[in-house]
Amino acid sequence: MQRIALSSVDLAYVDCGAGTPVVLLHGFPLDHSMWSAQIDALSTTCRVIAPDLRGFGQSSLGNADPARGVSMEQYAEDVAALLDALAIREPIVLAGFSMGGYIAWQFVRKYTGRLRALVQCDTRDAADTDEARANRLKMAEHIHEWGSGRVAEMMGPRLFAAGKFESNPEIVQQLRRVVERTSPAAIAAAQRGMAARPDMTSILPKINVPALVIAGVEDALIPAKEMQQIATTIPNGQYVEIPNAGHMTTMENPKAVNAALQAFIGECCHSE
Ligand code: MLT
Repeated sequence: MQRIALSSVDLAYVDCGAGTPVVLLHGFPLDHSMWSAQIDALSTTCRVIAPDLRGFGQSSLGNADPARGVSMEQYAEDVAALLDALAIREPIVLAGFSMGGYIAWQFVRKYTGRLRALVQCDTRDAADTDEARANRLKMAEHIHEWGSGRVAEMMGPRLFAAGKFESNPEIVQQLRRVVERTSPAAIAAAQRGMAARPDMTSILPKINVPALVIAGVEDALIPAKEMQQIATTIPNGQYVEIPNAGHMTTMENPKAVNAALQAFIGECCHSE
């Protein structure tokens, strides 16, 4: 991993391969490693940039105050600042996973001219329900007593398709270790930011780049039907359902996710 000091935060990131820049934004409370299989596959034909978002993995929380939260817009601004620092001026393919998808909507809203194509994985466009918001704020308030291990306990079973604990205990353990290493401050900051995130439904019909929407057929957090609706509402949207996967599609069925990404990127970037 490489590190860079931006004006308000130090970010760690993977930057490998050459060609069209593809930026991968991870989910909560994770780091770039949830994209490992995609980094390997895509970097054979593209330049892949996979940051640890502010506070996660090896990145600092910078000037953020966990008690106020980090907005999805702030994370998107960090991504734009990273691209500036790396002198990447050509339009990028941006892929967001779950919380990374909430951030990607903000990137679309603020920096649409910097986008060549959009990939949204296992995410949603709607804001939280009152219940979901209250649960996030409860976690943000208590995370310092609970510790990150309890978050791993709470979230773990809902992240994977039924039977994954038996059929692929390695990825379950791998993810658990990442969550346990995540600092309570980063968890509190991101939960407050997600609780406050706006409903983005109205921007979908205005998205003017090709978009791929990927859903795990057994996603227990974000039903595949919601993702399909997003793809239908984006004018140039495509939908791919990943079999044998719950929420963590990139880790549960990397072969299918890689194939979908490679076909999409090939279509919208390499066929000119
Ligand atoms: C994620 O995977 O990023 C989270 O499940 C998103 C969320 O908590 O809404």
